[in-house]
Amino acid sequence: TTSADVKWLGTPIGELKRMPECGRPLPPLKDVPGQHTVMIRTDLLQSGKRPVPYPAIFKDTWDDVHVKMPCSSSNLFPVEDEVTSRWELIKETLNKEFTNQSDLKNAILKYNASNAKRWDFTALHLYFIHEVSVPIPLLKRGTTHSITMSQEQVACLLANAFFCTFPRRNSRRTEYWNYPDINFFRLFEGSSSQKTEKLKTLMCYFEGFTEKKPNGLVTFTRKRLDKPLNWKSSKTLLTNLHITCEGTIEDDGYGMLQVDFANKFVGGGVTSSGLVQEEIRFLINPELIVSRLFTEALDHNDCLIITGTQQYSEYSGYARTYQWTGSHQDVTPRDDWQRRCTEIVAIDALHFKNFLEQFHPEKINRELNKAYCGFARPDEEKENLAAVATGNWGCGVFGGDTRLKALLQMLAAAEAGRDVAYFTFGDSQLMTDVHNMQSFLTQRKISVGVVYDLLGQYYSSVCKSCLSRRPDVSLYSFIYQQVSSSLAPDDSDRGSARQ
Ligand code: AR6
Repeated sequence: TTSADVKWLGTPIGELKRMPECGRPLPPLKDVPGQHTVMIRTDLLQSGKRPVPYPAIFKDTWDDVHVKMPCSSSNLFPVEDEVTSRWELIKETLNKEFTNQSDLKNAILKYNASNAKRWDFTALHLYFIHEVSVPIPLLKRGTTHSITMSQEQVACLLANAFFCTFPRRNSRRTEYWNYPDINFFRLFEGSSSQKTEKLKTLMCYFEGFTEKKPNGLVTFTRKRLDKPLNWKSSKTLLTNLHITCEGTIEDDGYGMLQVDFANKFVGGGVTSSGLVQEEIRFLINPELIVSRLFTEALDHNDCLIITGTQQYSEYSGYARTYQWTGSHQDVTPRDDWQRRCTEIVAIDALHFKNFLEQFHPEKINRELNKAYCGFARPDEEKENLAAVATGNWGCGVFGGDTRLKALLQMLAAAEAGRDVAYFTFGDSQLMTDVHNMQSFLTQRKISVGVVYDLLGQYYSSVCKSCLSRRPDVSLYSFIYQQVSSSLAPDDSDRGSARQ
């Protein structure tokens, strides 16, 4: 049935649920100690009004459970036998640099002359101390915690990241060894044209932001799966699938739960040289980058959910051909907490160097639980959950098999009670194959548990004894064979599903 002009298969995308339409009204936003840190005055929160930072006076904290802030009085710096305040030094230096055309500014000018001239550096970093007054908790491994802050607070933190002011963050041999880099210094090294395009994209954010300050909020939630699911015993049936070889998660998956093909250090190489799915998303929605300030490396059983970021840039190309193509007007509606209805979930796939490894039951469990952790919202009713917008998760840089990963994500989405919009990124054969598999399993009412069992059988009868680099029988043909032979002999209506 495949012809070159078929661009999508399965459920029409219009039938999948999106936010805000499918969501329930939110409870009032409130700070809950130990669970949710809210950095603004919730009593003054109002659409179109500038969020007011909370508390009114900077609370100076310097410990191992909060972000060490550049403006802390404990941020000291030795100068000629004396210790001085590093923040004073930063302010002094940046002020000087701004008038004297420092190296940094020269670099920026070189990359992006027109923007840099208009960008008021001083304004951005000086009110930092008034903007972020509450200590920012670190989202450490093993914890479940949310942080909600205003887009303006995010911008202040990012301006500081740009100027590399965060203390103890320039080397991995410090207390922050298990955190992503936040200071942008690696973005300025080297002279590749990709760096130029990355800087253009970020400058577009700072410029857009200073021109028209957004009044919204953004929430960052580290979420953990307390106990792995018993996949084998699941009787759940697959949910709907819309699959297309055109479009992208960010453009066509608006209002859905959008998957970030993450690194365990969220944002991956965004502040250095990476430029694939995750890095591009962090560049066009730069508010995502601030998660690197406080999110410790993800574990096998947790994920980071970011709600409310805004898209500031548009791009073309990918990786080596990536180009910033201009600013983006984000018209995504806001929810009751004044967040853009854009929910992104960072889940890091495993990096496979050996193709067969990924079929090992332990790896399959890991990937299923990781995806499920990202997709499931146990406190929500299923009818309030938007579809998952995803694609070749773990199948680029991380070397995974698209057909296996598509199936695993469908199982996790089914268990979480969500439909799936799958973007194959130009691969029409993959579109056809995954669609056929989904229809085959759905028509025969084959449950998640049965598919899981078939995956185990595939490992033990095909992969385990395999001597070559790739299995002799593909996963999908194995599933077709097994299911057909276990069904009544007259059941031979596989038709085009066979491959
Ligand atoms: N929409 C839909 N599909 C996409 C999009 C998009 N916008 N962009 C890319 N794809 P990859 P990974 C498809 O390699 O293997 C980063 O450095 C495209 O087919 O980014 O999980 C992270 O920080 C692409 O080949 O994901 C990690 O370190 C495929 O998705 C690492 O890469 C996979 O994209 C993660 O690697």
